Amino acid sequence: MSDAIYPVPQEWSANAKIDGARYEALYAEAANDPDSFWRREARRLDWIKPFTKVKNTSFNEADFGIKWFEDGELNVAANCIDRHLAERADEVAIIWEPDSPGAERRITYRELHEEVSRLANALKANGVGKGDRVTIYLPMIPHAAFAMLACARIGAIHSVVFGGFSPDSLGGRIEDCDSKLVITADEGLRGGKRVPLKANVDEALKNCGSVSKVLVVRHTGGTIAMQDGRDIWYDEAIAAASPDCPAEPMNAEDPLFILYTSGSTGKPKGVLHTSGGYLVWASMTHEYVFDYRPGDIFWCAADVGWVTGHTYVVYGALANGATTVMFEGVPNHPDFSRFWQIVDKYQVNIFYGAPTALRALMREGDEWVKKTSRKSLRLLGSVGEPINPEAWEWYYHVVGEERCPIVDTWWQTETGGTMMTPLPGATPLKPGSAAIPMFGVKPQIVDADGKVLDGATDGNLCITDSWPGQMRTVWGDHERFFQTYFTTYPGKYFTGDGCRRDADGYYWITGRVDDVINVSGHRMGTAEIESALVAHAKVAEAAVVGMPHPLKGQGIYAYVTLNAHEEPTEELRRELIQWVRHEIGPIATPDVIQFAPALPKTRSGKIMRRILRKIAEDDIGNLGDISTLADPSVVDHLLEHRQLVA
Ligand code: PRX
Repeated sequence: MSDAIYPVPQEWSANAKIDGARYEALYAEAANDPDSFWRREARRLDWIKPFTKVKNTSFNEADFGIKWFEDGELNVAANCIDRHLAERADEVAIIWEPDSPGAERRITYRELHEEVSRLANALKANGVGKGDRVTIYLPMIPHAAFAMLACARIGAIHSVVFGGFSPDSLGGRIEDCDSKLVITADEGLRGGKRVPLKANVDEALKNCGSVSKVLVVRHTGGTIAMQDGRDIWYDEAIAAASPDCPAEPMNAEDPLFILYTSGSTGKPKGVLHTSGGYLVWASMTHEYVFDYRPGDIFWCAADVGWVTGHTYVVYGALANGATTVMFEGVPNHPDFSRFWQIVDKYQVNIFYGAPTALRALMREGDEWVKKTSRKSLRLLGSVGEPINPEAWEWYYHVVGEERCPIVDTWWQTETGGTMMTPLPGATPLKPGSAAIPMFGVKPQIVDADGKVLDGATDGNLCITDSWPGQMRTVWGDHERFFQTYFTTYPGKYFTGDGCRRDADGYYWITGRVDDVINVSGHRMGTAEIESALVAHAKVAEAAVVGMPHPLKGQGIYAYVTLNAHEEPTEELRRELIQWVRHEIGPIATPDVIQFAPALPKTRSGKIMRRILRKIAEDDIGNLGDISTLADPSVVDHLLEHRQLVA
């Protein structure tokens, strides 16, 4: 925690869209008269049929339900493309920067309209209709945005799967939502390395029956197998399709997309977002949080495989008619100046990135930053995990040269868009604090028993009322939606995050309080990694916890008990690490595997994770009461063999 505070620069409070007084007024209006506030905000979109009802929501079991603008009709793609054509058809919608500096691509709104319409027709020609699911497994290339928008145009529901997931993880996600069609590329490129996307799809489809067609983008030109009757080249499909495709009128509550995310238990959940409320939220937060002005070059460095990419690379930015930068690569290729060179190349005004990348770049020294200009930057953003004050200060002083406010945006896949953040013209900045709630967000901090804690305090973060961008259900399991989020503290949405509120009313997210860990801003369920480990023939039992990691924020610490007669060798350790990468994907690579003859359990057989966490966190002076363990001596062995991180 840091005590530093940076006041709002005078030119920001004088010129920003939202200054301190306006924030207060709008926050109060959204809280007290949501109908009036949201009726006005929803006018930022074009409605095919205007809504008459604004909000119809309840978090209580008896009448549980979440509906916004429920009798309105609109089309999300038309809002992101068609309505901009009159004024900005020839302005650039997407700037694409490839993995290695070279042939960038600029796509105007007119071109975007044609690309998306052709692809929408190609989808229809291949049997995809309103309500059908389409899985998108692509690198960060413009086709990812085309694919999402083409689905939205015809009312198909997209499920984007991050290119770093394994065939198994991909297959599970395809199967869960019964996708009809997959859109992929021959290969992806990241930092010069090829990612075998099409081969992964082939592997995944061996066990999924629902998919009848695969559209394949020629990207690297690498050699791949094409299956007759199933696989179709993307370029051929769109060349054969008409550029004229009317946008399907959709009810505000019709699904827009599914995005799988990890929770504390079970397999990943298909978070479902719908059309009207989500787009209002995406567009509003993009405008106010980033103080977005027409003509700004906006760069959100997240992958479209995550919600940040959905809401700010694609939907929020394009709904506002922005020029959005899509970057295929990584911050350290070909060198550590890459981000800031891209900023200079396109004169980026707003840059939005993840703390994990900043920490990695900070370690390489200031020279990589300082040899670039960055004069175009006006605002910086942070997302995905708590930003430590050192990284914040570096971002502020070195990258932003003390000129650019930092918006530290706290939100989740479930929330659709930013929930808490400083607003650059309204909120003095405290390094590491997500500051204050967005309009319509009512945060509450409770203790473990659900008692509401007032004033300066520390506890679990809940939201007491609905906002338009809220997820509507878990795909195929509405009961799981209710159980997961609304039963821990009845009548409230429980975020899973710990939170502190200081004497000035600023919120500080302290990290997950459930069995979810945040590795380099990627959300992982410990249970998923455990089940991958126990699926290995030599493993009897596994327990996974987070541990502090200087670059990743949190690392993955796995305790593994082998089957009787198996030897804990270095070779087996390496094999298990590879195994998890293969089962889930490289993002789940364990940082530490500690072989443990036994795990600490209560007499009723429950693993005491608290103890495992303390050991992984190197907080061993503070193990708490271990007398309730079935065999307290287990802890001695764990302590003796714990692995400290470099
Ligand atoms: O723990 C919080 C952390 O990321 C979680 C949500 O992860 P995901 O659904 O993948 O969405 C990430 C992008 C919005 C949260 O429960 N988190 C996200 N942003 C912040 C954060 N923690 C602290 N500060 C943030 N700005």
